Amino acid sequence: MKKPVFSLILCLFIKTVIAVEGMWIPTLLKKFNIEEMQKMGFRLSAEDIYDVNHASMKDAVVLFGSGCTGEVISGDGLLITNHHCGFGQIQKHSTLEHDYLSDGFWAKNRSGELVNPGLTVQFLVKMEDVTLEVMQCVNSDLAEDTIKKVIAANVEKIKNSYSGTEKYLVDVKPLFYGNQYFAYVYEVFKDIRLVGAPPVAIGKFGGDTDNWVWPRHTGDFSLFRIYAGKDNKPASWSPDNVPYRPKKFFPINLKGINEGDFTMVFGFPGTTQEYLPSQAVRLLIEKSNPNKVDARTVKLAILEKQMAKDPKVRIQYSSKAAGVSNAWKKWQGETKGLIRLHAIENKELEELEFSKWVSQDAEREKKYGSILSDFKKYYAELSEIQVAYDLYNETVLRGSDVFGLISRFSLMRQAIHDTAKFNKQKKSLSDYLPVYLKDYDRETDQLLLPALLKIYFERVDPKYLPEKLNSLKSAILNSSYVLSAYQKSLFSDSSKIKILCRDYSPKTQKKLQKDALFSLFATLSDHFTKNIEPSYQILGQQILKTQKIYMAAILDMKKGERIMADANLTLRVTYGKIEGFEPMDGVYYQYFTTLKGMMEKNNPAISDYVVPEKLKSLFLSKDYGPYSNSTGEVPIAFCASNHTTGGNSGSPVLNANGELIGVNFDRCWEGTMSDVLFDPERCRNISLDIRYALFIIDKFAGAGYLLDEMNLIR
Ligand code: ARG
Ligand code: GLU
Repeated sequence: MKKPVFSLILCLFIKTVIAVEGMWIPTLLKKFNIEEMQKMGFRLSAEDIYDVNHASMKDAVVLFGSGCTGEVISGDGLLITNHHCGFGQIQKHSTLEHDYLSDGFWAKNRSGELVNPGLTVQFLVKMEDVTLEVMQCVNSDLAEDTIKKVIAANVEKIKNSYSGTEKYLVDVKPLFYGNQYFAYVYEVFKDIRLVGAPPVAIGKFGGDTDNWVWPRHTGDFSLFRIYAGKDNKPASWSPDNVPYRPKKFFPINLKGINEGDFTMVFGFPGTTQEYLPSQAVRLLIEKSNPNKVDARTVKLAILEKQMAKDPKVRIQYSSKAAGVSNAWKKWQGETKGLIRLHAIENKELEELEFSKWVSQDAEREKKYGSILSDFKKYYAELSEIQVAYDLYNETVLRGSDVFGLISRFSLMRQAIHDTAKFNKQKKSLSDYLPVYLKDYDRETDQLLLPALLKIYFERVDPKYLPEKLNSLKSAILNSSYVLSAYQKSLFSDSSKIKILCRDYSPKTQKKLQKDALFSLFATLSDHFTKNIEPSYQILGQQILKTQKIYMAAILDMKKGERIMADANLTLRVTYGKIEGFEPMDGVYYQYFTTLKGMMEKNNPAISDYVVPEKLKSLFLSKDYGPYSNSTGEVPIAFCASNHTTGGNSGSPVLNANGELIGVNFDRCWEGTMSDVLFDPERCRNISLDIRYALFIIDKFAGAGYLLDEMNLIR
């Protein structure tokens, strides 16, 4: 009796870390990863994941919009992604009469599916290493500017070489800071319709309070359908379009998951920076993150108060507030995680090793000898400019709605001598105006602007503030100036804005110059463009150039080893295991959550935690259908050790057989530093258990007819 118990305990203690860092390139899996993946349990081949000549998993994964992933789950182009990825669309279709945010939306049939102008999805047709072609005629004797021109011309040539009879989108992107290049060919679909979305109380359950946090009970999914022309090719919206017939769609596994199971995530991770020097990490931890966080703390406090007061404001600002809050919380987790990992000190140690390696060889000295001192010099210069740059973006350009709108008017001002450009700006402004006004609340915005400008004037080094405003500084700091400018401004009155936009002509210029709010923006923005942006750009270029050489040196130093490339919003594979983690000493988080836990969080007094009545009654009557787990509970989410980042939202989470078991939607807060430094012990991605999505569609929404087109593996 005793022995097995003992060895079980021993097993738990010596459990090796099996997380695999890295977001891997689909065409290189065979060379670098497939063997390891199979050792971890994967039962398919590299060709099953990516193949140009036969249908493979890549044909069922899309870039959804401009920054999420989605996957096809039926032969009729049905697509699943996150609720937060479709949030903008769901919100745009919502009004007080049809409040799809609060009530959810389920198209009764295909004709009830809602059109989303501007939304696209992109399938990767193929990708190819084009490094040699991009680098043709580039050599180190050329001046930096010339190199850029040669590369740009080569990239153009490559893009043109792909244009066949069919219309594809071709993109050429650098990897390893431009030490390697890949060309990506995409088929872009433009008629994407909303099929279904649960109410916010499910799709965003836990709201911004639980965002980034495990344990999680968010039903973060929404359904769309891809439409194509009768020839199954991309087409602009038309009533004659038909559901797209994909080359491949994912079967859905209802049999459930276990700790230790192999998982892979296949999607479009946006940005990681795993090769930053210590100075960059220091700037992030000590200045960039804290300043941006503080600005957003002020903004969020105002938004939350206003949204709680008025249901109309809640609808108008919910999408904006979610966006503001998301990065705000991530930056805090990232800072904390980096400090805990002693990231700066560790990078410094690595740099010491690096210099030793460089100094061993005269040739290396020549090529790489100045990298570290260059970084040191550039980052020292960047520090204060970075503060001005970050806070300009957070508080001036993107702080309030009104300055956002004025910045668009100001583009017209700049285009005034170029009729074609002017008309284009005017058209884009008049298209934008209704969208702006629908979600604009004057009272809220009037609170935001002065509060945010106050931070800008408090924190930015006076040498980066316009002298012209010196005499107003104290009135800006106590808000009186900004408030009175706002109240008197043309931009606080929607009918005046409409007329201004309609009748905009060169004469309007004079009128605008007299508007105190407009001229405040113009002064700040002109000063930024003349005195902050140029130095920021120049330093940025120098840093990038150094980073490219640093990267080349690392590749050289680690020649023969498997080296991961940073994410760049292209299709990648990451793999790991389903596993819980220890977020802090003395606490172990198990790998899954259930409906029971959601009921425990239920709290009518906190808007983030109100469980819908219908869900409560399903829970009480245990009406779970085939969607419960082995202990009879409905599973909601699970965590696993896949290295993911922003952009992976909505990505398919697949089991060893390539069947869909979940939809990725978040990372655990304790692991959000993984964009800079991955910790296999604490970095976990969070996925919706696919059984919960089906349970909600079928039992909660009564939209079980949607399941008929899926391939369910029971
Ligand atoms: N943290 C997730 C991501 O980075 C989800 C964001 C949406 N959810 C929210 N509550 N704001 O995008
Ligand atoms: N929610 C993120 C997204 O929208 C995924 C979470 C992450 O950053 O890993 O892509």
